[in-house]
Amino acid sequence: MKKRAFPKTKKLIVANWKMNPESFKEAKKIFDLLRKKKFNANKIVTVICPPYLFENELAKSYRSNKIKFGFQDVHFENDEKSTGEISTEMAKNSKVEYVLVGHSERRQIGETNEVISKKIKKCLDEKITPILCIGEDERHENGDYLNLIKEQIIESLSDIPKTRVHDVVIAYEPVWAVGKGKNSMDSHELHQMTIFIKKILVSLYGKKIAMELPILYGGSVDADNALELIKQGQVDGLLVGRSSLNSHVFGDILKNLS
Ligand code: 13P
Repeated sequence: MKKRAFPKTKKLIVANWKMNPESFKEAKKIFDLLRKKKFNANKIVTVICPPYLFENELAKSYRSNKIKFGFQDVHFENDEKSTGEISTEMAKNSKVEYVLVGHSERRQIGETNEVISKKIKKCLDEKITPILCIGEDERHENGDYLNLIKEQIIESLSDIPKTRVHDVVIAYEPVWAVGKGKNSMDSHELHQMTIFIKKILVSLYGKKIAMELPILYGGSVDADNALELIKQGQVDGLLVGRSSLNSHVFGDILKNLS
């Protein structure tokens, strides 16, 4: 099997800054504080996904390899007639190694599994690691949400053959646990979900490949719950929203996992 972009021996911690902060000055302040934080880079791969506008400037002046960069989205084509879009080539030229694909906040504005599948393919073509985001809006008592997760995985990976899937990362983010005023998922329930996701991946790609694919968790992660979510939830890393904008909290998450 080809060498994976992200080794399973490490934890992958991804900061999704979303549409924050309001200025480059503020972005630089958050980043500068974070780069001074001490954590074990042999155990953790840290990826920051700022808005496009800030990523380029932050990456340009950053020499170390301790923190990697990602984009929050990318277009599925390299078509010069795509107003307002960012291509995978641009990502590549901006030191971007990871891209979030199919985040729930993009699915909410109409992004389909079909488009997501194209984006994943495009990332892999450019040797960028796509982080495929999946997750249900709510938990139906009859278990319908499990069918939705299954559909998201199968359709989003429909174009990705066995030979290429080893560079895909899956991020499970239940929408009901994302954002202000929400609580993270219970870590035991998370473990059940990771088993369910792995079963689907085994049915698609076989046991050997499926068990190697990293699964992250996202949704109200903070310094207090990060370790438990990883240990009890049996995930390979975390996708962090609000807590990643506070360098002290995010630094504590990294330190606790070191
Ligand atoms: P919060 O950590 O703010 O709940 O956001 C999670 C998220 O959407 C990360 O992609």
